[in-house]
Amino acid sequence: MPPVYFDNACTTLAPRQVSDFIREYYEKYPACGGGRSRHWFSREVSERIEGDPERELSGSREILRQFINARTTREIVFTLNTSHAINIVALGMQFRSGDMVLLTDREHNSNLLPWLRLEKQGKITVDSVAAKADETFDLDLLESKLRKHHVRLVSMGYTSNLTGATLPACEIVKLSHRYGALVLLDAAQTIPHQTVDVQDLDVDFLAFSVHKMCGPRGLGVLYGKEALLGKEYHESDEAENVILPAMLGGGTVGDSLDHDYYLLDPPERFEIGLQNYPAQIAAGVAASYLLAIGRENIREHLARLNRYLTERLLKRYGDTGWFRILGPSDPAERSGILTFEIRRPNAVGMAEELDEAANIMIRDGVYCVHSYFNRIYGQGWTRPHLPSEHRMTYRVSLYLYNTIQECELFLGTLGDILKERSYI
Ligand code: ALA
Repeated sequence: MPPVYFDNACTTLAPRQVSDFIREYYEKYPACGGGRSRHWFSREVSERIEGDPERELSGSREILRQFINARTTREIVFTLNTSHAINIVALGMQFRSGDMVLLTDREHNSNLLPWLRLEKQGKITVDSVAAKADETFDLDLLESKLRKHHVRLVSMGYTSNLTGATLPACEIVKLSHRYGALVLLDAAQTIPHQTVDVQDLDVDFLAFSVHKMCGPRGLGVLYGKEALLGKEYHESDEAENVILPAMLGGGTVGDSLDHDYYLLDPPERFEIGLQNYPAQIAAGVAASYLLAIGRENIREHLARLNRYLTERLLKRYGDTGWFRILGPSDPAERSGILTFEIRRPNAVGMAEELDEAANIMIRDGVYCVHSYFNRIYGQGWTRPHLPSEHRMTYRVSLYLYNTIQECELFLGTLGDILKERSYI
């Protein structure tokens, strides 16, 4: 049975173009980039990342700039992933006493823990904007918090990996700027299926993972407005809103003395040590692949699949009292994500059963959003589940290569499992 991969919010599959470029790197020019060495291996790597006008070669950094419409490639910092990108901001911001960081009430651990640690260290306070009863974002509550507190940064998951709901980012940025707060958007779940234009949004920082957009594992991007990533040569000259690199070493400095050092400009000052060059090259390939398909086409495809699944699941189980879809009721507002809750005795184990019965891969549990489940389902629910657990959530996350036929197979196999368990 061919695999049905419905775990795309975790990581997406990569097209052959991406793996071809990774193989090509190792087989043809497997060296360091960053202009370190003078031989042609190293030149080839650097040119594939930074471009070469003489060869009319667009480097991957330039392709990623175009992908989010940044002003300059200096605003594109390569990171390990979204978590790493958010940590660069959290550890690099020069917080002042009394500063608050505002989140949503359902952040992935990647956009929660970096802030909680700073709060525990007494450097900031952390608060969140709870969603409205209909699961939409509460702009009035955001404004009242911005008015009441000294919010230095609004850091929010643009699209929730739990429900698939996307925030009204333009309004959030406008409002936050009006009150003097900077905005970081965790776009890990947005970038794969929606055009994100950082200049239109006027967002200050944007973090995303390339492995969730058909790209290689182990690579993410931090976008930051150039003025916030630092322009001066020496760290001590930096203005207060500039983020400082939390880690220093090879590749980040222009010069060092026995007791001093001078940083390179961004993005290099944040890209410490030997980089993941094959992934950086292949990231440009993945971005070009998505640009050619068109993210609006992907978005429409996901909405169609999500509607197909949602309508059938609700028709079959919507009135049972033990089936519920998390997040907005309109599937068009949940991108490619459909997370549902089953409240029946022994509710665990269906992800394994789908995998064994029909090679269908979904995810269950808490999706790294522990804080939400501890609050809503009761503290402790997030610990390892006993087979007798009477409540479990399952997440189907779709992407561009999934089909209606796969959705049908999922619905049929799920129905068989529910019958086998005597739920229906
Ligand atoms: N953030 C990824 C997910 O939600 C890992 O599955």
